[in-house]
Amino acid sequence: MFTVGVLTVSDKGSRGERVDESGRVIQQCLASLGVRNTKYDIVPDERESISDRLREWADEGLDLILTTGGTGLAPRDVTPEATLDIVDRVAPGFCEAMRAQSLKYTPLAILSRAVAGVRRRTLIINLPGSPKAVKECLEAILPALPHAMETVRGQAAECAQS
Ligand code: MTE
Repeated sequence: MFTVGVLTVSDKGSRGERVDESGRVIQQCLASLGVRNTKYDIVPDERESISDRLREWADEGLDLILTTGGTGLAPRDVTPEATLDIVDRVAPGFCEAMRAQSLKYTPLAILSRAVAGVRRRTLIINLPGSPKAVKECLEAILPALPHAMETVRGQAAECAQS
């Protein structure tokens, strides 16, 4: 059983002007992993609002936090910076895999600046904002997530046998 938080980053979503389809898609995809106590919130594209929520959830001890949105090149896209503000260590492999997989679907995959990292015992991974992108990116990383979370917790068995 893993504890997971889903943080949607969207100005419109936070004002109630857009239905958060991507957050719902993430929660559906995670169901297969045996997840409990899923936390969920929507924050605007503000660096401090994002990093405050990430810090709070990580310090509560969630195993995994997935963000969606705010990873692109638009002036208000600051999710990667907010994430880097609060992680102790970066974990580039997740986003390398997501971008590699995503390029099979769209050349626009290179526009996502998503990052991933670890704060204390919590793995934090950015996903792009659209529901389609969320599905495609999770496809690339879902198989590795259980072992990744065990490793972060310090509970993983021998990696070479996994
Ligand atoms: N990745 C996948 N797999 N599929 C997509 O459709 N869209 C791209 C990219 N990554 C996309 C994708 C686009 S168009 C943008 S602008 C960036 O993600 C950043 O999206 P965000 O700003 O909503 O996070």
